[in-house]
Amino acid sequence: MKDIHSFIQKLPKAELHLHIEGTFEPELMFVIAKRNNFQIPFSSVEEVKAAYQFNNLQEFLDIYYAGANVLLTEQDFFELTWAYLTKVASQNVKHVEIFFDPQTHTERGVEFHTVLIGIYKALEEGEKELGITFRLIMSYLRHISEESAFETLRQSLPFKDLIDGVGLDSSEVGNPPEKFQNVFKASAKEGYKLCAHGGEEGPAEYIWSALDILKIDRLDHGNRCLEDEKLVERLVQEQMPLTLCPLSNLELKVIQDLKTYPLKKMMEAGLLVTLNSDDPAYFGGYMNENFLETAKAIDLSKEEIVTLTKNGFEASWLTAEEKEKWKNEVDRVAKEA
Ligand code: ADE
Ligand code: ZN
Repeated sequence: MKDIHSFIQKLPKAELHLHIEGTFEPELMFVIAKRNNFQIPFSSVEEVKAAYQFNNLQEFLDIYYAGANVLLTEQDFFELTWAYLTKVASQNVKHVEIFFDPQTHTERGVEFHTVLIGIYKALEEGEKELGITFRLIMSYLRHISEESAFETLRQSLPFKDLIDGVGLDSSEVGNPPEKFQNVFKASAKEGYKLCAHGGEEGPAEYIWSALDILKIDRLDHGNRCLEDEKLVERLVQEQMPLTLCPLSNLELKVIQDLKTYPLKKMMEAGLLVTLNSDDPAYFGGYMNENFLETAKAIDLSKEEIVTLTKNGFEASWLTAEEKEKWKNEVDRVAKEA
């Protein structure tokens, strides 16, 4: 296993499903809360970590949004993002495509540009200092109205050049993709690429509508596609990327045991699956832990790990040349490892 650990460590990786607010480690939360004179209802890092026990997505989201309330200034968002980038740099992550949730902050009075610029400056510095390239995705919250998503789209327009795509996250069940049909259409018109969470807790029908109504370029999670053979066929035929998050699925009880994680079945079916961390500060693992815990649980071979790693670059929004370069580099490193 030590061998697999160092193999995973050495491979250059791309992360495509990461909520920046989900990287807020309790240690940093205490530092920023103190600076902002913000009272948090915990007295120690250990107490915070002990509270991270979730039975479903909503239980997690309630705590995740409460944690995000601590973030107020551009410097806060910069430090949050910088902490994530330095962490994944140490895991040999070379490219990231990250989500931020503007409404989580604008709804409590923090300006859109404060959030965006703090994150963006850290990403720029990460590219310069750490060599990590990036794309940025603003995610609409599905538990609130489409009108609010439209307001977010309007707020983003002066900064269009800094944002690559839109996503759809938060409470899935009861908030189907069709609720956001118009704002996704308008976002595409503005040149944004499209992705959406789907089939995490919600049914396979939500994945169909994410494809047919929202017209997504990439599907976040997508686990429940396996309940519908025709849907799997469609996803395979389109080579629609799925950004899977094994430790998230385990912690949110989407699956009961990593040993039953249907990753090999998905790969054998021909799905373009990638591994990611989702909200690593809450789910106990960044990229390498997601790879390693999954590899241990279902006995992934080195070849399968290489395929998953190359899929991360293939499913990214890098140029065709950059994808080729990184996939070749993964092969080269794997051969030498
Ligand atoms: N926001 C942050 N993490 C999420 C997840 N796993 N599902 C939906 N919304 C989220
Ligand atoms: Zn997610």
